[in-house]
Amino acid sequence: MRELMKKIVEEGKVLSEHVLKVDRFLNHQVDPQLMKKIGETFANAFRHEGITKVLTLESSGISPALMTAYELGVPLLVARKRKPVTLSEDVYTAKVYSFTKQEETEIFVSQSLLRRQDHVLIIDDFLANGQAALGLTNIVQQSGASVAGIGIVIEKAFQDGGQLLRSRGFRVMSLARIASMRDGKVQFVKEVMYQ
Ligand code: G4P
Repeated sequence: MRELMKKIVEEGKVLSEHVLKVDRFLNHQVDPQLMKKIGETFANAFRHEGITKVLTLESSGISPALMTAYELGVPLLVARKRKPVTLSEDVYTAKVYSFTKQEETEIFVSQSLLRRQDHVLIIDDFLANGQAALGLTNIVQQSGASVAGIGIVIEKAFQDGGQLLRSRGFRVMSLARIASMRDGKVQFVKEVMYQ
């Protein structure tokens, strides 16, 4: 997605060979026009798939996921990283290990909000090692619902997540795929932008 790649080059900051700072438009300050385009792009790719729900993980996945759900005209379901006091009913849970943060988080979704009939599009901001997306697919599978695909805003293609999810048969669509971040410069994967 051209506008996103331009934004990454102009406003992103390479913090190390592994970490890209995007807090001017994606995960701290958020660019609503860009989120609208991201939502349209995901929605156009999955419009004829019979999606009934968009699922993301709080917090930075919410902006692109909300715009996608809006465009598709379906609800957005946000998996929580802490069980809120109001979430007293039965929940689906999965454990998500973050290699970046070296910590394990438990994620929660109310069982009443995910049904066997649902066909779910998972959206997240970053794909690194794929553990968050995998945890979300696990929750969808526990409910008996199906995963239509996984939409990622920025995939760090030099990490293992994309390969892991694709090898498990999930359709992964990434709007920007970063090949490397050496010498403070972002290099994008040249071939197909998504598959
Ligand atoms: P994985 O799910 O693909 O295995 O990724 P990982 O555990 O490595 O990522 C953990 C957190 O770090 C996620 O946010 C993810 O969005 C974020 N992250 C990963 N790589 C980058 C990067 O290069 N730049 C930035 N800015 N973030 C990155 P989170 O802990 O779930 O936080 P949030 O969604 O509440 O913001």
